[in-house]
Amino acid sequence: MRTHYCGDIRTHHTGETVTLCGWVDRRRDHGKVIFIDLRDRAGVIQVVSDPERTPDSYSDADALRNEYVVRVTGRVSARPPESLNPKLPTGEIELYADRIEVLNAVRKQLPFQVSSFENESVKEELRLKYRYLDLRRDRMNRNLQLRHQVVKSIRRFLEDERGFIEVETPILTRSTPEGARDYLVPARVNPGQWYALPQSPQLFKQLLMVSGCDRYYQIARCFRDEDLRADRQPEFTQLDMEMSFMSQEEILQLNEDLVCHIFKTVRGVDLPRPFPRLTYAESMEKYGCDRPDTRFGLELVEVSDLLGNSGFKVFSTAVKQGGIIKVLPIPGGNDTISNVRIKPGGDLFNEAAIAGAKGIAYIRVKEGGNIDTIGAIKDNLNEEQTKELLDRVGAKPGHLLLFGAGDAATVNKSLDRLRQVIGQQLGLIDEEKVNLVWVTDFPLFEWNADEKRYEALHHPFTAPNLEDLDDLKTARSQAYDLVYNGIEVGGGSLRIYQKEIQEQVFAAIGLSKEEAQQKFGFLLEAFEYGTPPHGGIAYGLDRLVMLLSGEESIRDVIAFPKTQQARCLLTDAPSSVDEKQLKELQVVSTYQPEDNG
Ligand code: AMO
Repeated sequence: MRTHYCGDIRTHHTGETVTLCGWVDRRRDHGKVIFIDLRDRAGVIQVVSDPERTPDSYSDADALRNEYVVRVTGRVSARPPESLNPKLPTGEIELYADRIEVLNAVRKQLPFQVSSFENESVKEELRLKYRYLDLRRDRMNRNLQLRHQVVKSIRRFLEDERGFIEVETPILTRSTPEGARDYLVPARVNPGQWYALPQSPQLFKQLLMVSGCDRYYQIARCFRDEDLRADRQPEFTQLDMEMSFMSQEEILQLNEDLVCHIFKTVRGVDLPRPFPRLTYAESMEKYGCDRPDTRFGLELVEVSDLLGNSGFKVFSTAVKQGGIIKVLPIPGGNDTISNVRIKPGGDLFNEAAIAGAKGIAYIRVKEGGNIDTIGAIKDNLNEEQTKELLDRVGAKPGHLLLFGAGDAATVNKSLDRLRQVIGQQLGLIDEEKVNLVWVTDFPLFEWNADEKRYEALHHPFTAPNLEDLDDLKTARSQAYDLVYNGIEVGGGSLRIYQKEIQEQVFAAIGLSKEEAQQKFGFLLEAFEYGTPPHGGIAYGLDRLVMLLSGEESIRDVIAFPKTQQARCLLTDAPSSVDEKQLKELQVVSTYQPEDNG
């Protein structure tokens, strides 16, 4: 059918006769000469037809329209100097078409232009509805190919260099403990019972370690029924790994090797080693979050001890109630950020308010180190306190200091938000930078204020730090996340493999023996038959590819993603089903459509 891909033809093919297949990217009529940009997966080539040089193809070329599927046989020829196109890899040659066959025509009006030469911005809904056309477009085609390259490099590294084997784990299974809502599937032959789709292969990969598999990986589909965002999909893909007989340090080293291999293979970049590490406590202190964007500074400084006793009520009350006071120091912020933006109604005020803060106190550092602020702070700070404050936060003339005071969670959340927004607005973020950071020593549990109980921060199989066994409630865990420019791309931990510790953890989260048995009995039993020490990690593959491709949404690196409303616009799923199917499943819907009348 064809001899080459369109995008692969180069000057060394000059003089050869080739046959290419593809889509008409666009057709340009230059008087008597017709130019066809012919596109396939590999790229675009310029095809030329005119009555003198290619009389046999001229009328066929004339009849072509955008997105027709054609086969062209012709001679590769060097382009004249004036028509070289350095932007195209095929820009030094063109193809004189001796024969053009239309393999298929387009019979409907295209919903949008597919050509990579068009800069039309197309609504995402339309793109998702006609995803097959969207994927034909250059950008999406490149993203799909990049994703493939990433997966290929992962497989080559893990299998060929580190002895991992890929094992598939079930999709129809029991609920897995990642903390999101499950997608459920009715079990027809077991009426009244349900499978859950896996939120991750967590339990199976641990069982594989009990089996002696030693090094497991899987490109695994996971399902979580949670609120969607640009970096979350209801079904997404993990690179999931589990390893036996490896320390946390060895696991982190192997993973740095892996990530460096991926970057080298797909981007040609040597990442600096070792990846920096922050403990969870350090990350919260400096950045107010556990997935810090370390491409820019604006680090937070805690000043509770300095200002907790000041006469400024907002500060003293916060500390008295067990809260904290923190500062976000912004060099040059005095000139660039106006009071209007910080006060109620201002954009920065609103950002802080979204995170639960009631307001933002501030100090402006003027020339000579004088401060200017809302009266209340100034009136309640003596000279010595002021000096100590400015020294502690490293403030120089021109600095703006934004304060958060209150419970630690709200202060951190609001200052983290402000830090990110301001970092962005002041142009402090170098988009070219790749900052990968390990965040380690997460707390084992977090307090669930709604349910008034502790719950596992990662999942209940995460091993506690052995130094902290005396007080599990405040224990650190042996868990680690990999953060890429402020986005969590991976997370894992060493697992509990000793029965006694597992029982203690279940007890700490208020899971009775019976409940633990009912939920995870099969795993606990397996653990009694000789479980090796083990640990693992899972990467959000979609997120990793999104970041490698420079896209801002994982939808752009997934072939057939869902919308924010978890719908597939192409197939119009989810959809209602036949009454007969429901009957067979013995499922009755209680849903009452809202009465719009
Ligand atoms: P975790 O729940 O942290 O860990 O998930 C691992 C990684 O998966 C990605 N991720 C998602 N990506 C897209 N859409 C989602 N809805 C979504 N949810 C998570 C993130 C995250 O870092 N079993 C453990 C891993 C382990 O302990 O080995 C787990 O699933 O990038």
